[in-house]
Amino acid sequence: MSWVAKMPKDFHVPGRLSQHVVVVTGAASGIGRACAVRYAREGARVVIVDVDKAGGEETLAQVQAVGGQAIYQYCDVTDATQVQTALNAGVAAFGYVSAWHNNAFWSVFKNIIEQTPEEFDRTLQTSLRGYWLGAKAAVTHIQGRGGRGVILNTASVQSYLGERGFSAYQVAKSGILGLTRSLALDHAPNIRAVGVAPGLVLTPVNAALPGDTLARVMSQIPAARGAEPEEIAGLCAYLLSDEADYITSSTVVIDGGYLHAG
Ligand SMILES: NC(=O)c1ccc[n+]([C@@H]2O[C@H](COP(=O)([O-])OP(=O)(O)OC[C@H]3O[C@@H](n4cnc5c(N)ncnc54)[C@H](O)[C@@H]3O)[C@@H](O)[C@H]2O)c1
Repeated sequence: MSWVAKMPKDFHVPGRLSQHVVVVTGAASGIGRACAVRYAREGARVVIVDVDKAGGEETLAQVQAVGGQAIYQYCDVTDATQVQTALNAGVAAFGYVSAWHNNAFWSVFKNIIEQTPEEFDRTLQTSLRGYWLGAKAAVTHIQGRGGRGVILNTASVQSYLGERGFSAYQVAKSGILGLTRSLALDHAPNIRAVGVAPGLVLTPVNAALPGDTLARVMSQIPAARGAEPEEIAGLCAYLLSDEADYITSSTVVIDGGYLHAG
């Protein structure tokens, strides 16, 4: 049987994020784009960060099409200066930044024999160092203005389970859990740090999965489908909101039951 997501793609809670200025990295595509649009629909002002200028500007157009406010800022998240520039751009446009969603990633899906040291380095530079740099800039800014804020990190079910052929990716995604916990402890109570751990999400990256991985994973998901990016964005919007004020340090799994399917 073929199932489709029941949540309408334009579902949102009006005004829920109106206190937030949110930086979303990797927002030119997939989950990051869906989050940028969702946050804007809920009243946040959004800084769209990505190295993909055309994709970033398309996300900006989509935010504006739903009446939201955003800017696109070119930024390679592996570069500390560019990350700081992205934060500064948000402050210049909207007065402050109150939330930073680390989501950008790069990797090649191989085992350790096939993977080169350069591929390992680039995976961790983007998906771990990039998260650390974003959190550092945001926490410093939020604390400096005496405000409240949220750091949201996109992890993965692969932060928890073993999957063949994802060597460096699993290292990075596991490290993100530790980063989230450490941020939550060091900067409570004014700053929450939370994570989201998706299973299979229907984004362009899945075209690059090795061999029969996509078909095999799909066949093992109790929900019998991959997630729409908008479903991940719905959870992320909740986690940024004051409704989730008692959630910090935790990473929330959203995977159609895949992690515990055995
Ligand atoms: N798609 C899935 O099935 C899935 C599952 C679990 C977790 N995730 C996680 O969700 C997040 C988003 O994944 P997606 O599927 O939407 O991917 P995607 O490929 O659609 O988007 C990733 C974005 O990151 C950007 N990016 C890459 N390197 C960058 C850099 N150095 N600086 C700035 N931007 C950079 C890319 O240009 C791209 O727009 C990732 O952290 C990924 O690990 C995805």
